[in-house]
Amino acid sequence: MTMHPLLAELTGSDLAIAWAPLEALSGTAHPEEWEDIAAAAPARQQEFAAGRLLARKLAEALGLPPAPLRRAKDRAPIWPADRTGSLSHCDTLCAAAVGRRGAIQSIGVDVETIGRVEHKLWPTLFTEKEVDYFNSIAPERVAVETTLFFSAKETFYKCQYPLTQEWVGFQDVEVARTNERLLAIAPTSGARRSWHEAAIHTAEINGSHVATVMLLTT
Ligand SMILES: CC(C)(COP(=O)(O)OP(=O)(O)OC[C@H]1O[C@@H](n2cnc3c(N)ncnc32)[C@H](O)[C@@H]1OP(=O)(O)O)[C@@H](O)C(=O)NCCC(=O)NCCS
Repeated sequence: MTMHPLLAELTGSDLAIAWAPLEALSGTAHPEEWEDIAAAAPARQQEFAAGRLLARKLAEALGLPPAPLRRAKDRAPIWPADRTGSLSHCDTLCAAAVGRRGAIQSIGVDVETIGRVEHKLWPTLFTEKEVDYFNSIAPERVAVETTLFFSAKETFYKCQYPLTQEWVGFQDVEVARTNERLLAIAPTSGARRSWHEAAIHTAEINGSHVATVMLLTT
């Protein structure tokens, strides 16, 4: 199976992150996992199974035993007790991260197609400060940067959810660029909490896709 390392500088014996084309991840879901997706449309079943197949491969690479990855009523994945992780799919790709629970408290991963964030969506997805920033950068970077900021918010949501079980809206947090590879996130109101502290790592996978990863260590 073609599995590409993602942000390899973050990974090691406690954490594995990778992406793969959806077509390389065809396989059947574990019978228990299948129960969670049996009623869905075929394309949804395919991406669901692909994410789980990739997560299984990553767990295997960490030396963790195979175990079903069920889906909760709120649609969040229920990771086995010895691990945590995160999944993401877009039109053609799938990304996953798996970490040992003793070392990794929570992970968020998101993969997006560049250009998916149309200008008309900016007022919904971004704060005024974020929009000012997009208006200040080189026009040829805007599609990548808006996609990365959107992805960062999705990644943050997935990373904070296991700790808070809380919904966070797009205007509730603000993303800012720290340097070429990192973004920072902060609440737009209310107290800053420990899950706002970690950096969000950015990766340009290929000419058409980007990914972000947020990691909370124990
Ligand atoms: C959960 C959510 C982030 C998924 O993002 P998406 O771009 O639609 O889809 P992705 O393919 O990237 O991610 C889907 C995966 O996220 C995971 N996921 C779903 N709900 C989750 C949650 N509450 N916490 C953590 N992970 C979750 C699942 O593994 C899912 O894949 P699966 O159903 O095949 O198992 C999005 O649907 C959502 O509900 N967002 C809430 C609001 C939000 O995004 N706020 C951002 C501002 S912080």
